Parts: sequence; structure tokens; C-alpha cells
Amino acid sequence: MNETLKTIFERSSIRAYTDEPLTENELETLAKCAIASPTARNIQTRRFYFITNKELILEIERETANEIYAMNDELATERLKSRNGKVIYDAPLLVVIAVDKSNKYSAVDAGIATATLCLGAKSMRLDSVILGMPRLAFEGVRHDYFKNRLGMPAELEFEIAVAIGHKAMEKEPHEGDLNHVVVVDA
Ligand SMILES: Cc1cc2nc3c(=O)[nH]c(=O)nc-3n(C[C@H](O)[C@H](O)[C@H](O)COP(=O)(O)O)c2cc1C
Repeated sequence: MNETLKTIFERSSIRAYTDEPLTENELETLAKCAIASPTARNIQTRRFYFITNKELILEIERETANEIYAMNDELATERLKSRNGKVIYDAPLLVVIAVDKSNKYSAVDAGIATATLCLGAKSMRLDSVILGMPRLAFEGVRHDYFKNRLGMPAELEFEIAVAIGHKAMEKEPHEGDLNHVVVVDA
């Protein structure tokens, strides 16, 4: 199996990280992965906020948790508690992908960038987890504060985030089902 396929098949969501920071070289390579991802009509309106400030990452985590508790959603609250209140899992890098939602392909573009980042990270012996939950911090009662903190212009909105770092746990890749692939040859 070639190295690219190995990277694809070995990736899994890692929900615990060591405190080892990423090197400047790793951050630069991940930034290049992000901008290498394609966009519809090559419009490139998505923006990547590479957050390495520990305190800010914790602030986003705490606000996301506050929003979850405020929702009174029993399932979400139980899941958060089972993860010790962690949403970003101590990762040293949080990449927030922000998009202009007036572009109908913005979510697809952000999804492609997300996969590119996760696979790029895995190929560099780093691990990752895709994070939808921090949306709550960027769309909740303190949305202006967090957008301003990142320097995000008004026309951009949080779409998805990726936490990246050195893993502090093991997790097997999820089971796939080849029946989800339908071959149509007639
Ligand atoms: C759009 C999207 C949003 C996700 N949001 C979260 C999240 O907020 N927190 C989390 O721990 N995992 C999140 N995940 C990770 C999924 O739970 C995970 O990918 C799935 O369980 C399959 O496991 P695997 O990534 O190990 O193959 C998200 C994944 C996707 C694709």
C-alpha cells in the first residue's frame, strides 16, 4: 500500500493531546496544506485561523461548554461530562475555518480543506480531530468577542474547526461499510 493510502486508512479522531507544541516548520507545512485545498471556481474565500495561544483555545473551549450547558440538552451535556468538559482536548493547535456563506459551495470548500488538513497532519506523524462544537462559541452570546479576537471580518462565519497535535491516546480508525458505495454500471 502506498504512503498516501496508508495515511488515509490510519487517520482517526484523537481526543487527547500531549503538551508538545508544533514546530514552526510543522505550522508552515499545515498552512500550505490548507491553502492547497481546492475551492469551487477557485474562489478561495475561506480563511484559516491558526490558533496556538493556549489561553485563547481554553477560552473557546470554556465558552463552547457554557453554551452546551445552556442548551439543556441532556445527551450533549452527558457527552461533555464524559469528556471531562473538554471540547478541544488540549491540542496545541486549533484551526478555525471561516467562510462567506453567500457562496453556496462554502461548506463543501471548508470540508475539503478540513480533510486536507487532517490527512496532511497524519502524514507528518501528527493527529487531529474535526470539531463542529466550537461553532457554539462563535455563534453564541459572545460571538462578537470571539470573532474580534480572531480578527474575523463581518462577512465570514465559523464553518468548522480542526484540532491538531501529538496524540496522548490510541484510537482505531472507524469501521466502514462498503455497501455505502453503490456501483452503477448499467
Ligand atoms: C463535521 C464533523 C464535525 C465533528 N465534530 C466533532 C466535535 O465537535 N467533537 C468531537 O469530538 N468530534 C467531532 N467529530 C469527529 C467525529 O465524531 C468522528 O470523525 C467520527 O466519530 C468518526 O471517527 P473517526 O474520525 O475516528 O474515523 C466531527 C466530525 C465531523 C466530520
